[in-house]
Order: sequence, then C-alpha cells, then structure tokens
Amino acid sequence: MPHMQGKLLTLEGIEGVGKSTNLNYIHEWLKAEGKQVTVTREPGGTPLGEEIRRLLLDTRFQGMDDECELLLVFAARAQHLSRVIRPALERGEWVLCDRFTDATYAYQGGGRGIDTARIARLEESVQGTFRPDLTILLDLPVETGLQRAGKRGDLDRFEREETEFFERVRQSYLDLSRKNPERYRVIDASQSLDKVQDDLGRVLQSLVRSHTV
Ligand code: TMP
Repeated sequence: MPHMQGKLLTLEGIEGVGKSTNLNYIHEWLKAEGKQVTVTREPGGTPLGEEIRRLLLDTRFQGMDDECELLLVFAARAQHLSRVIRPALERGEWVLCDRFTDATYAYQGGGRGIDTARIARLEESVQGTFRPDLTILLDLPVETGLQRAGKRGDLDRFEREETEFFERVRQSYLDLSRKNPERYRVIDASQSLDKVQDDLGRVLQSLVRSHTV
C-alpha cells in the first residue's frame, strides 16, 4: 500500500551500535527540517506491544521456543502497524522506528536459524506489501558492539546470546542491505560519532530532497 504522505524510516543494527544516540540525532534533524515525526520502536510502540516486548526480553524465559518468539514479534508488529504506524503516515507524519521487520530476518532468521521463507510469509500476512521507505543500518564489528553494550549493566534475553549469534545477525543485516539497495543505507558505526552523524545527515538530505509531497 502506498504511504499517503509521510515516510517510514527504520534504524537497525546489532547491540551497541549507538542506535539510541543516533535515533535522537535523526529525530532532531527531521524536526529542524519542519517534519512532524512520530518516534517509536519495536518490539513495542503500543501499550500491548510494550507488554510483549517485556516478555521477549525477560531472562526468565531464556528457553523460549523460537516459533513463539517469532510469533510474538509479529503480534506486537500487527498492533503497532494498525494503531501507530499507519495512522501516523496517513496523517502525513514521518515515522522514525527503532527496528522493524528487518530485525526479524536478522535475529529470528539469521540468529535463531528460522527459515526466511516462513518469515516472509508472516511478513506478507501482517504487512501485505508495506515496507519502510528507508532503512539505516548502523554497522559495526560484533566485538566492538558487545563491548559497548556490556557497559550498560543488566543484559536482557537477547544481549545474553553468544558472539556467534550476533555474527549471524550482523551478516543477515548486511545480506538484507545488499538485497534491498533501493531502501538500505549502511553507515560505518565504528567511526567517531561526528563522522557517523555527518553520514546520517547526507543520507537524510537526499531522502528529504526526494520527498516531493
Ligand atoms: P532494542 O533493545 O535494541 O530496541 O531491541 C530489543 C531486542 O529485540 C533486540 O535484541 C533485537 C530483538 N528483536 C528481535 O529479535 N526481533 C525483532 O523483530 C525485533 C524488532 C527486535
């Protein structure tokens, strides 16, 4: 389905790439351009979705079945799309989302090893042809990311995974970026924050310029 006016921007990357800091930067940048922006996240973004997020991250459920995990992320996404994302786009707002379905391909597909054809079927069922307009991948060697994330203290159910899990997640993201070059922009997050934000500014500038409404 075509978006009426707004655009959906998603931000992706493994743990420790600086998603929160750069999400704020993107938000401020878009506001300075005069855009109305809804900032949200997955899993979550709605009261119900945030409850599902709590279940997904809870270390008490360390042995959660992969299929259960997959269905929970899509359950939260269905609620998020119908209650937050689509309405905001229809109002003509821009939606800046911290993770979206690419995270499912990366974590449940790459990380857990779930067949991507199954993920694609759920994607089709929940979203139809709806996809982000732009996805920014902050890319970083896994070791650096995990070192940064480890400094934050308590680790959630995903952050407790082994390095190899995140290697698979990272590779899946890079594969997705190669398969979807029209909507993907990869930024080297191992650079200094200034450089990362210069790159982000350039990506956003070209997106705003292509926005003709
Ligand atoms: P965040 O804390 O980085 O926002 O994301 C929470 C965790 O959820 C993160 O480790 C990645 C994971 N996740 C999935 O496994 N599948 C998904 O579809 C999404 C959106 C997130």
